[in-house]
Amino acid sequence: MHLPIKTALLLVASLVQAHPRPNHQNKAVYVLRNTAENAVIGLPVSPNGILGEGIVTLTGGRGGTAVTSDQEPSGPDALFSQAPLTVAGEYVFAVNPGSNTLSMLKANHHNPAVLTLVGEPIPIPGEFPVTVAASPKNKLACVGTTGRKAGISCASFTEHGLDMMDALRPYNLNQTTPPSGPPNGIAHTFFSADESQLFTTVKGTPGADIGFFSVFPVRGSDACASGKKSATLARHDIRSSFNGTNLLFGSAIVPSSSHIFVTDPTFGVAVLDVNENTHKTKLLSRVPIPGQMALCWASYSAARRTVFVSDGALNRLVELNATDASIVSVVHLPNQDPSHIDIQAAGDYVYALSPGNGTTEASIAVYDTMEMKQIQHVSLKSNGGDKNAVGVAYLEL
Ligand SMILES: *[C@@H]1O[C@H](CO)[C@@H](O)[C@H](O)[C@H]1NC(C)=O
Ligand SMILES: *[C@@H]1O[C@H](CO)[C@@H](O)[C@H](O)[C@H]1NC(C)=O
Ligand SMILES: *[C@@H]1O[C@H](CO)[C@@H](O)[C@H](O)[C@H]1NC(C)=O
Ligand SMILES: *[C@@H]1O[C@H](CO)[C@@H](O)[C@H](O)[C@H]1NC(C)=O
Repeated sequence: MHLPIKTALLLVASLVQAHPRPNHQNKAVYVLRNTAENAVIGLPVSPNGILGEGIVTLTGGRGGTAVTSDQEPSGPDALFSQAPLTVAGEYVFAVNPGSNTLSMLKANHHNPAVLTLVGEPIPIPGEFPVTVAASPKNKLACVGTTGRKAGISCASFTEHGLDMMDALRPYNLNQTTPPSGPPNGIAHTFFSADESQLFTTVKGTPGADIGFFSVFPVRGSDACASGKKSATLARHDIRSSFNGTNLLFGSAIVPSSSHIFVTDPTFGVAVLDVNENTHKTKLLSRVPIPGQMALCWASYSAARRTVFVSDGALNRLVELNATDASIVSVVHLPNQDPSHIDIQAAGDYVYALSPGNGTTEASIAVYDTMEMKQIQHVSLKSNGGDKNAVGVAYLEL
């Protein structure tokens, strides 16, 4: 084709007009607002890791707050858990602790910070959900509740929404609704890297019991992957407890090794290994973290091959070698955040949530792990974020 140059240019111009280039927004970070009118705050992530303006999507449920030992609301650590919201494929799952429901939301393909509620929030048979895991392979979302009715229940999901939750697999925690803490409760529910097992950390009570690590095998996983039938979670779990641990809390799977780094605010980090045949868990090492006060959250950084952990009582991130668990760096962020609860490593960056303390605002610190510096500090106040905010999740489409 030999079009005159001007016509060709006009043609190109009109094609561009008819099909505007998408703005290449394909990443987002999410925080659960966990306010009375619960919502997910979605923030677009630009290629240099910087967060854009937050977008609020209501979950259709209510937030909630646990209580401390003196019966005060526990914010800025409202749920004493990791992963009150999680991502699977293009979906976000979020718990509503105040209304015992689970919400499913779908990310917009042009800007995943924009979410749409899929169906209605579904009722959970337990009380006070604090953590959710979702498996794209098994099309299964499992919730940990840690109130008067504590345990694990799961629901299948499709693009049309969540099915009904199955019956509670109880943990006898003798808790209340709302639960008191931080001791005695479910902290974190998550699937193994191959999605064939569901892991849950259950905090003990210092002086009374040491808690446990729970493993539920997934049934019918391969049949589900080939579309034949839906996968379910086994009714009974295999529990392991470890001398020297007491409050197993947030976890990070090291993808290349089957090792799991689990924080424990009574000393530091426990490195666990789950036998995929017997589902028994072994304590590989117990890594004290000097100066830790409330080490509770963990996230694996694929870019660094390290695990970042954060402390609920210190403005400090600690980076651990994912191979030998030695300390690689200790990061003091140049901001006024009292501490960070829940963190998410993604690409070269770590997103650390500080719900604030009523004086400081709820915000996210963006830490560049390669340049080893904070590159942004974003307030969530204009999105209605306050000291009840919990959880950080990341989605890349
Ligand atoms: C359960 O908790 C109540 C207080 O909430 C306590 O009085 C009771 O002894 C506990 N029961 C067991 C079996 O621990
Ligand atoms: C745990 O530690 C206690 C006290 O040190 C000891 O009596 C017990 O045998 C240990 N249990 C295991 C399973 O190692
Ligand atoms: C982690 O430790 C291994 C050896 O145990 C070493 O080869 C590797 O370079 C270390 N990684 C970092 C990030 O320090
Ligand atoms: C909140 O944190 C800031 C900075 O860490 C501190 O100066 C302030 O005293 C804290 N306020 C409360 C109410 O704890």
